[in-house]
Order: sequence, then C-alpha cells, then structure tokens
Amino acid sequence: MKTYLVTGGAGFIGASFVKLLLKQYTDIRVVVLDALTYAGNLGTIVSDIEDPRCEFVKGDICDKVLADELFVKYNFNYVVNFAAESHVDRSIENPQLFLITNILGTQNLLDAARKHWVTGKDENGYPTWKEGVKFHQVSTDEVYGSLGAEGYFTETTPLDPRSPYSASKTSADLFVQAYNETFKMPVTTTRCSNNYGPYHFPEKLIPLIIKNILEGKSLPVYGDGTNVRDWLYVEDHCKAIDMVVNNGRVGQVYNVGGHNEKQNIEIVMLTISTIRDLMTETPAYREVLKKKEIINGEISIEWINENLITYVADRLGHDQRYAIDPTKIKNELGWVPETMFAEGIVKTIRWYLENQAWVEEVASGDYQKYYDKMYSK
Ligand code: NAD
Ligand code: DAU
Repeated sequence: MKTYLVTGGAGFIGASFVKLLLKQYTDIRVVVLDALTYAGNLGTIVSDIEDPRCEFVKGDICDKVLADELFVKYNFNYVVNFAAESHVDRSIENPQLFLITNILGTQNLLDAARKHWVTGKDENGYPTWKEGVKFHQVSTDEVYGSLGAEGYFTETTPLDPRSPYSASKTSADLFVQAYNETFKMPVTTTRCSNNYGPYHFPEKLIPLIIKNILEGKSLPVYGDGTNVRDWLYVEDHCKAIDMVVNNGRVGQVYNVGGHNEKQNIEIVMLTISTIRDLMTETPAYREVLKKKEIINGEISIEWINENLITYVADRLGHDQRYAIDPTKIKNELGWVPETMFAEGIVKTIRWYLENQAWVEEVASGDYQKYYDKMYSK
C-alpha cells in the first residue's frame, strides 16, 4: 500500500487530485494536510475524507513539529505539495505571506522528508534513500515569465518570474532542485498552465466571471483584455501529476499545458454565451440568477450580454502571454490533455449552476471584504 501526503488538498487542484487518487487506486492511503486558509474548504473534500482510506489534518506546512509527527505516524511514500498562496493579485498586496508559505513551507516539507527518508550514506558521502519514495512539487508556468506573440515555454526556458507569487514559486522550485543535486533526494516537478473546473475559488478569472454574471454584477477585465492564458481542465492536470509521481524520471521537470491559448476577453465572452446557452436549453437554471427580471412571465436572460464587461485598471506587472509546450510529458509518459475547452467550460459552468451553496459558503466573510477592496480601486 502506498501512502500519500497531499498538502493543500482542500484547495482547487489538490482536492481534484485527492478525488483522482481515491477513484483510481484501491490499495492506498491519502493524508491531506491543509491549513484551511480562505482558499481551502472542507466542503470541497467532505465526501473524500469520509472514505476510510483518506484522513484530514488541519495544519500549516511551515510547522516543523507537525511535519515530523506526520512522517512518523504515516510513513509516507509520496509527498505531493500543492499547498501555496496561489493568487497573483494577493501577492501584490502581501508579498511576505507568499514567501513564508511557498518558500519556507516547501523547504520545511523537504527537510521533514529528508529526515525520515534517508537510510544512510553512499561511498561519496551522499545520502541514500528509502526505496520508492518521491517528493513532487506542483509548480506553475509563471516561473518562466511572460511571452510575446510567438513561442512556447519548454522545460529549458530560463526562469524569469515577475510577480511576488511567481518569484516565490520559482524559489521553491529551485529548493526542490537543490535538494536533488545536493542530497540526491528523489524529486519531480510539474509546471502547469492555468487550470479551470469545479471548486475553483471565485477570485480567479473564470469562476469570478460566472459568479458576477449570476449576481448581475459587472465583469472586470484588466487592461485591454488581450493577455493570453493557456487553459487546462483541472482533472487533466491531476492525471499528469499522477503520471509524473509514478513514472516521471527523478530530478526532472515536466511542463503541463492544454494547447488552449485564449485572450482574457475571449474567455469572458465565451463564459457569457455559454451561460446564456445553458439557460436557454434548461430554463430551470435561471432560478439561480440573483437578478431576476421577469418578462412575459419568464425570468429574462436578455441582460446577460457583453454590456456587463467593464475594463478596469490593469494588474501591476501583468504578464502578457503564457503558452506551454507539453512535448516532453507527451513523449515520455504519454500524457495528453483529454478535455477540449468547449466541453470543459460547459462542465464547469454546469457545476457552478448546480453548486451555488458551495460558492456562497466559500465567498462569505473574508472573501467579500477582499473583493470589495480589490475592485473598488
Ligand atoms: P488554491 O489557492 O485553490 O489552494 C491552495 C490550498 O493550500 C488551500 O486549500 C489552502 O488552504 C492551502 N494552504 C495555503 N497555505 C497553506 C499552509 N501554509 N499550509 C497548509 N496548507 C496551506 O490553489 P490551487 O489553484 O489549487 O493551486 C494549487 C497549487 O498548484 C499551487 O501550488 C499553485 O501554485 C499551483 N498551480 C496552480 C495553477 C492554477 O491555475 N490554479 C496552475 C499551475 C500551478
Ligand atoms: O499560469 C498558472 C497560474 O494561473 C497559477 O500559477 C496561479 O496560481 C493561478 O492563479 C493562475 O494565475 P493567473 O494570474 O493567470 O490567473 P487569474 O485567474 O488571476 O487571472 C487570469 C487572467 O485574467 C490574468 O491575465 C488576469 C485576468 N483577470 C483576472 C481577474 C481575477 C482579469 O482580467 N480580471 C479579473 O478580475
């Protein structure tokens, strides 16, 4: 039986990975370590932690004593590190928190793994490691900086982070590589493009646009809306991580992306038209609209159109374009993105229409204060 430590497993991508593990493997134990920050929500994994193969521990990845206790108690085979402060806009407001969680937290986990996984020394003085263990770091394409109109990020593209968030993720990546070089620690890293799908916190572009449409609010587009992101359905990302944890070569980095580049304005327009289409096809979905205009006895959706778009001040240091070349993971491990955007966006929007209670729960309290401050500028 393999035991996984999944940090950040109550967040958007970590939770999807926990669900994938429990679905895919029977002989498995999954320990979720999550601090339940504003971005973590137990509601996201409530059915998973009821499963006897899964345990939840509320705690901070920076906590040395806790990490030590968990390694002693569970004797992990794999650590998959999702836990992070993940929102670029928040990193502009409070860079130090990103440094603490993303860099120091990762280094603390690396040290705990080193303490418990090293079995001795080889003839050159390097540590020897328990059979089959691995530390997997979940990283981002943002470590490569920003592209112009042409080209793709490959694994050999120089690191060039530009926001406090990406600087912290890059630094964490370098620590992971450093533990591999210096201590021969068995590590792998994936660098993925923008994910979308169910349980995505509504501070990020796609869920924020969906939420605002349903509430009849304006749709804030930064700058001129021409920035490009490469969107990948979250379950496809998790399948890639699973493949790399199991079969990725030790010490290697794998880029993961959907070959699905879109300008932000296109994403917003597509979200508007998909919501309208779904509400036309299934009028019952109109019940979730907070703005209910009744025309001819029917809840109107005429007002859901591009007039809701508002161009707002640009993000400071806004990266222009991200685009991943996933050739390495395709050739070495056979991974390809399975979910076309046209299908993924419908699945995502349907999920939000059918899970408004989740949105209301995560968006209450602190998030509302953040939203009011962020978008009042
Ligand atoms: P998220 O913000 O939805 O979730 C992060 C989770 O980490 C939350 O559950 C939060 O409670 C937890 N967490 C935060 N600080 C913690 C701490 N100190 N100790 C323990 N838990 C803590 O983020 P996400 O979008 O799911 O991203 C997960 C990982 O994937 C991150 O490392 C992120 O950098 C990376 N990534 C994200 C994307 C994307 O598009 N969302 C793309 C590429 C890579
Ligand atoms: O590329 C991978 C990264 O993708 C991950 O490492 C990050 O954790 C994840 O948050 C995401 O970063 P982005 O900054 O690209 O995602 P976000 O959803 O915040 O923004 C996507 C684009 O939309 C970006 O160009 C900014 C723009 N945007 C965003 C928001 C929230 C808007 O125009 N309006 C908005 O209100």
